[in-house]
Amino acid sequence: MIELFPDSARVERGELELGGVAAGALAERFGTPLLVYCERTLRERARALRAAAGGPVFFGTKAFPNVALLRLLREEGIGADVASTGELAFATAAGLRGEELVAHGNNKDGRFLAQAAAAGATVALDAADEAALAAAAGAVRALVRVTLGVDADTHEAIRTGHHGSKFGLPPAQALGLVAEAGRRGLDVLGLHVHVGSQLADFDAQAETIVRLAAFAARCRSELGWTARVADLGGGFGIRHHPDEQVPDAAGLAAAAAETARTAFAGAGLPAPEVWLEPGRSLVGRAGVTLYRVGSVKPLDGVTWVAVDGGMSDNPRPQLYGARYTALLANRADEPASGPVSVAGMHCESGDVLIDDVVLPAARRGDLLAVPATGAYTLAMASNYNGVPRPAAVLVADGEARLIRRRETVDDLLALETG
Ligand code: LLP
Repeated sequence: MIELFPDSARVERGELELGGVAAGALAERFGTPLLVYCERTLRERARALRAAAGGPVFFGTKAFPNVALLRLLREEGIGADVASTGELAFATAAGLRGEELVAHGNNKDGRFLAQAAAAGATVALDAADEAALAAAAGAVRALVRVTLGVDADTHEAIRTGHHGSKFGLPPAQALGLVAEAGRRGLDVLGLHVHVGSQLADFDAQAETIVRLAAFAARCRSELGWTARVADLGGGFGIRHHPDEQVPDAAGLAAAAAETARTAFAGAGLPAPEVWLEPGRSLVGRAGVTLYRVGSVKPLDGVTWVAVDGGMSDNPRPQLYGARYTALLANRADEPASGPVSVAGMHCESGDVLIDDVVLPAARRGDLLAVPATGAYTLAMASNYNGVPRPAAVLVADGEARLIRRRETVDDLLALETG
């Protein structure tokens, strides 16, 4: 199970260490729940994905918008895919500019387009009237997002490339948008597809790339326009649970780039520059959430171990039926006592973080570490029950650095005007 944790994770004298810092010391100093990111894992993933992709890589900022993390990834040569003025502000605060930025979204407004254009971002056009809006906003470079009718093997809420998806346009309309964008004076670099997230295998991506090449060939013959870029989006999965089998993202990135080159050549087209937008596969395994154990209730049929967070800091079990596992971070080498269910502290029965996990007998005050929580957890956190959102730290070489401070109740009260 330790393989679900970041590269630097180890158990020393019964205690989990991340980046050379003991979990207990992190919890003492920064409080819980706490999101701990391993710098070594982030850099290793960034290098592996970049090397495999062979073209520009943009971090799917939505997985965890954080300035320090965006800056670290930028040091590794990775840009950012941003989908709101907020994400764009995080990316520009991290120093990202121009060709390092791609602006996304199925409903970009004039303000976002103007800010994206001012930052020099490439705009991924997603609706028929967006060419006009982007040109008016001063954008220069564009992609056109096409939806090629492929059903990915993932939870339906995070499937995006199927017929009827709210994202992008089907081929006939996308073709019109390429032409329209050209008429508006935009430099249309190429085409964008994103099949879905947490993809279980490569099948849907491979099929999408083949259809993309056929569509690019159609654009060439009908419009005389040749795509120079194939932006294949994100979607590579990670393992959140020992039972989950997911191919390694770097291998998939290499396969995607190779499939694109082969498919475009097969369609009689020049090799496109392949762009990728990984979110989860860059930061997911680098992040571990630490919780403090509170009440422990051995009931008939189930033992509830309650922690000081839950659906407010990780709503993925409720939204996608996501399965996680955990380690008792302060007594990690003690023998297992049996299966328990890990409950959050929120006021509903559905607030269950882990249905079933085998742990040593947990007591109040213990620390629970949940691996593979670096993506789409804090990014989707809420203030349900008036709970302030957790802090995040970056650990490396025995040092911990705060990269996002803990929200306070005063922060929440500061929004109240009545
Ligand atoms: N590019 C585009 C255009 C996207 O929409 C996304 C994710 C990505 C890249 C990055 O995808 P990734 O590599 O992270 O799969 N909240 C959900 C995931 C939503 C993904 C949204 N789009 C979850 O927690 O599973």
